[in-house]
Parts: sequence; C-alpha cells; structure tokens
Amino acid sequence: EEWKDRGAAVGVQRDIDANGNTITRVVKKGVKDFSFGRTLGEGSYSTVLAATDRTTLKEYAIKVLDKRHIIKEKKVKYVNIEKNTLNRLGEHPGVVRLYYTFQDERSLYFVLDLAAGGELLGFLKRMTTFDEECTRYYSAQILDTIEYMHSKGVIHRDLKPENVLLDDQMRVKITDFGTAKILDPPKKPPQNGDGPSGMPYHGDPMEEDGSKANSFVGTAEYVSPELLTDKAACKASDLWAFGCIVFQLLSGRPPFKAVNEYQTFQKIVGLEYEFPKGFPPVARDLVERLLVLDPAKRLNIEHIKNHEFFDGIEWGRTLWKIKAPRLK
Ligand code: ADE
Repeated sequence: EEWKDRGAAVGVQRDIDANGNTITRVVKKGVKDFSFGRTLGEGSYSTVLAATDRTTLKEYAIKVLDKRHIIKEKKVKYVNIEKNTLNRLGEHPGVVRLYYTFQDERSLYFVLDLAAGGELLGFLKRMTTFDEECTRYYSAQILDTIEYMHSKGVIHRDLKPENVLLDDQMRVKITDFGTAKILDPPKKPPQNGDGPSGMPYHGDPMEEDGSKANSFVGTAEYVSPELLTDKAACKASDLWAFGCIVFQLLSGRPPFKAVNEYQTFQKIVGLEYEFPKGFPPVARDLVERLLVLDPAKRLNIEHIKNHEFFDGIEWGRTLWKIKAPRLK
C-alpha cells in the first residue's frame, strides 16, 4: 500500500455503560461521518471542502487529495510531509490543526480547522492596503505562530498572504505545510564544563541542528536569497518571508516582483526594492532589518518582538484574545 497513514485516523469516544462505568472506544472517522458543503479552495492536487461532523455538528475544512494524480505527479513525499508536520505541530491558535486523516479508494482526506474568513490575501486585495494598526495585529499573530513552529522544529518555507488564513473571529491560521522542513530533534546544548572551551551556547542560525533544509521550494516573490544562492533554507528564511509580508500589508504589493520568476530572483539576490511614499518610518526600519541578505544578520524573533513597531503588543496568550481591529 502506497499510503502509510492507513489506520491512523482515530478519535476517542467515551460513553457511560448501564452500570455507570466509563467506556473508552477508539473510533475511526470516515467519509460517511461528515456532510460535505461548499468548496473553499482548489489546488493542483487537492480540493478543500467545508464539512460538518454529523454527530457533533462541528464544522471543519476537509482537504481531499486525489491518490492517482498524486502518484502520477510524484507528490507522495509532499503529502506525507504535510501530514507529519501538522501532526508534529499539534495545537496552537495560529496553526490549522489536523484532526483526522482517512482515505477511500480514490482519495485521501485531511480533516482540518475551518478558517471561515479565507485567505488574508483576499482581505488585503479588498482593502488595497492595511493601516499600521491592522498590520501590527496580523503580523504579530503571524510572528507568534512562526515562533511556535520553529520551537517545534518546523520551517514553513512558503509563508505568504495566501497561506495565512483567518477564522470567523479574524484570527490568523497558517496553512499549507506541504513544503515544510522538519528539523532533527534539537541537540542538547553543551553543559557547563563538558566542553573544551566552556563557551556559552548560542544557536547559529545557519546551523539549525545540522539541517540546511535542501532543495528549491516556495513562491518566487517570498523566496529568501540564501535559498537562491546556497539552495539552503533555515529558520531565518521564514523571517525573510515575514518581512516581505509586513511590507506587502502596508504597501499592497510584495517588495520583490517582476514580470517573471527569473527577474524576481535577480531582484531578491540584489536586494532591489523600494518603499512607496508614505510608508511608516518605524515599519520601514523593521522591514530593513528583516530584508537582509545574510540570514545570520537578520533580526531574530526575540528582537522583532521588541522592535518599536510592535510597541503596545502583549505577546503570549493575550495576543489571541484581543478583538481584531476594524480593517482600515
Ligand atoms: N482553504 C484551504 N484551507 C482552508 C481551511 N482550512 N479553511 C478554510 N479555507 C481553506
């Protein structure tokens, strides 16, 4: 069997029997347990449908992948990456959660959090640009989610406004982990006195657990220069994309855009971009410290959180409880 996930889709159901004892049953969900609704999105290998659990009436987004097409196009690896990454990430308000997976003769099914608002890009296009307050709100949630993904050893590698979804309360849910990189479990930092030098341990951004995530992935406009020059992505590559997103929310367009991919890449490696007139100076300073060619010299997450642009943001749980600002 081509698909490793057979038998993996289980839920736990607890019932009280006639004697008042709790019985726990492992129940496998399947296609029949959901009623399918409207199409939420279509990719080259998958369709995302709104669906409702017939028992609980909870709504989900179900990604339906065509097995024959995936095999024919040699994309099995990416489907497994997506599933393994989502399983590793587990529960965080900013990540689309994977609840169940199952399959039938024709298709694979990923039962995901429904992000009823759809893509952040859709809202940006309707508004043309976001003001500073809206940009701060959405980018703070994106950054908190990147920090969580990185803490779990996941580099997204394809962050862009299409992959940032919004739920019914306008909270960020990052999706599309098909091109993510799972890093090896982090090595223990050297203990005091067990190394020859006794040097304190500082994570080297290029030496992510020995993993320079290989091969070419991502979307042209958000691809980091190190991926183009060294064919290697690291955690800081997600922060380059984050800088591109902050620029785009405030100006309505990504910083590096040309008529074709090749010319876009030329602009990226040459750091050829310009701020439009009226771009807020504090945000400009942040973007300039993120769009830095050397990934080791890019601001790290802690420094970004402390940047003046995010003054007034309370990091942590509260970030996910505040009311979304009205789009302006
Ligand atoms: N489009 C793709 N994935 C989605 C999701 N989880 N919720 C809503 N729309 C989507």
